[in-house]
Amino acid sequence: MAPWASHDSTVTFRAPWTMAYLTSTALLMIGVFDSGVGGLSVHRALVQRLPRADFTYLADQANAPYGVRAGEEIVELTKAGCIRLFDRGASLVVLACNTASAIALRRLQQTWLPAYRKDIGRPVNILGIIVPTIEKATGLPWEHEAERRGEKVQQLDILGVFATQATVRSRVYEIEIDKRKQDLAVFSEACPELVPLIEGDASAVDLAKAVEGHVQALKTRIGRFPDRVVLGCTHYEIIADIFRAALPAGTPLIQQPEATADALELYLERHPEYAAGTAGGRVFLTTGTPGPQNGLVQSFWGAPVAFDPA
Ligand code: DGL
Repeated sequence: MAPWASHDSTVTFRAPWTMAYLTSTALLMIGVFDSGVGGLSVHRALVQRLPRADFTYLADQANAPYGVRAGEEIVELTKAGCIRLFDRGASLVVLACNTASAIALRRLQQTWLPAYRKDIGRPVNILGIIVPTIEKATGLPWEHEAERRGEKVQQLDILGVFATQATVRSRVYEIEIDKRKQDLAVFSEACPELVPLIEGDASAVDLAKAVEGHVQALKTRIGRFPDRVVLGCTHYEIIADIFRAALPAGTPLIQQPEATADALELYLERHPEYAAGTAGGRVFLTTGTPGPQNGLVQSFWGAPVAFDPA
């Protein structure tokens, strides 16, 4: 399956796009979409991988958090975000949001995008981040030998997924991993208060308390700590160090931003009909309050980051 395909759907083009289109793509760019600041974690990896490409980041902060919303709302909000980015010249929109990827991607690819492409007369696509992450997670050996009382014992690998309520409810990680590796056990933990805390610049103490509670809750359900972890909400990457501190030392975190960058690079190589631009443009937009983003974001980003009005 193509690394971007959501669930079973694979988009196949029969190259209906004319040379006139292909020579007029100079203004096109890659859109990156999230409900808020979390997608910056993916955006940063994409920019590092494709420094010459033009990127426009859109945070739908007026409507964040998505993870506590009903499925239909998530689909409609994601569609509206994609339209804003396509209107501004995106050829591809990367949903740098697990919730939108889990709930909206397949619906939009199957029921809306084909007609929309015809309407606007150029190739556009929406790419999710869950399948690249799962491919990275399942590329790892599912069994490893653990040392117990001097004996080597085979141990089933357990993957812990921390995500929003909507992502956990969708069971997308369990379903997609089960298709690839039936012997990799997945346990998911919903952390509904984390996105508001991160968007609201919560203190390290409050964040650590919340994360600790979720790590312990997952441990209680599994009966031990997970062997590997996916931070299945892009906001959580901003506080990855707090997760690392709450987990046993050395627990591997699957790198969703890098997995997404690998997949995007490959996708662009295989699909020259999608122009990524060459001017290295960086635009940051929000549907919420424009201006500098909070301290948590700035320390993650390593520099001040400000959003313009969408
Ligand atoms: N960053 C989004 C994700 O990866 C957060 C969703 C939300 O707004 O709750 O799921």
